[in-house]
Amino acid sequence: MSDAKDFQDRLLSLGLARVSEAAALASARLVGRGDEKAADQAAVNAMRDQLNLLEIKGVVVIGEGERDEAPMLFIGEEVGTGHGPAVDIALDPLEGTTLTAKDMPNALTVIAMAPRGTLLHAPDVYMEKLAIGPGYKTGVVTMSMSPSERVSALAAAKGVSTENITVCVLERPRHEEMIQELRSTGASIRLITDGDVAGVMHCAEPEVTGIDMYMGSGGAPEGVLAAAALKCMGGQFFGKLLFRNDDERGRAKKAGITNFDRVYTRDDLVRGDVIFAATGVTNGSLLAGIKREPGWVTTETLLMRSKTGSVRRMSYRSPLK
Ligand code: FBP
Repeated sequence: MSDAKDFQDRLLSLGLARVSEAAALASARLVGRGDEKAADQAAVNAMRDQLNLLEIKGVVVIGEGERDEAPMLFIGEEVGTGHGPAVDIALDPLEGTTLTAKDMPNALTVIAMAPRGTLLHAPDVYMEKLAIGPGYKTGVVTMSMSPSERVSALAAAKGVSTENITVCVLERPRHEEMIQELRSTGASIRLITDGDVAGVMHCAEPEVTGIDMYMGSGGAPEGVLAAAALKCMGGQFFGKLLFRNDDERGRAKKAGITNFDRVYTRDDLVRGDVIFAATGVTNGSLLAGIKREPGWVTTETLLMRSKTGSVRRMSYRSPLK
């Protein structure tokens, strides 16, 4: 049987939610403690332990870094029991380490699983990203348009004025020019300090989040995770790898990338079915953060399958240990 036929996404999805929940629970006691490294480490350990209980032959393709940089959940690490379907795993045990350390909104634990060989092995470089939600014709906005052209095109497609478009952007000096141009259109800009997986996911539910479009550069691994989320929730995503030096080009070559100028669509980054789970660590507009009460801890998880387009919100309450 091929890996895609063998991909029991329905059965595997609950296991994936448990992995995501475990990482969030482990980082719970580190929310707002100012220690990014400890929060990340706790999430990594818990995610790895839970992942290794799943009946899969898993390989981490988006992980904590290259083997020589990351002792756990490194790219190429085999995870799972070694029995069951052969799958690719993309993960970020704590997306928003600084958000967690400072108790700021939208820190998540994130994991996606897909049949072996179907997720892009994105190197740890930057990626230029562009995303919009579902319901628009393909190509209504493109990477070749300027930021202001994208706002105008999306406003026209939505049947509103440019003032009624909200764009989410990572607040970074490298985005200053783009922000100026966006402001000239009258569009509103939601600046986020970190966490562009959540930023992109916000586009999929504009009526809940108020965000119509995401643009700007961030981590390429996070780009694959964001594409996996949009493949389940609906929406368009485009990404182009950005290289600052030969070392980064070398990383891309090592990951099997030959065309350095390619614009990847959502379905180039995630070539088949995918399941995706994210658990809120700090409160956000998509997911509630971890809630601690005397004796209990509660998490909220988004669990999604691209095959069916199903989106589950799961609340999990566990005794506080
Ligand atoms: P961490 O969780 O690893 O801290 O990453 C957070 C993040 O904001 C990502 O969401 C984003 O893709 C990337 O960092 C942006 O990188 P930079 O901080 O270098 O602009």
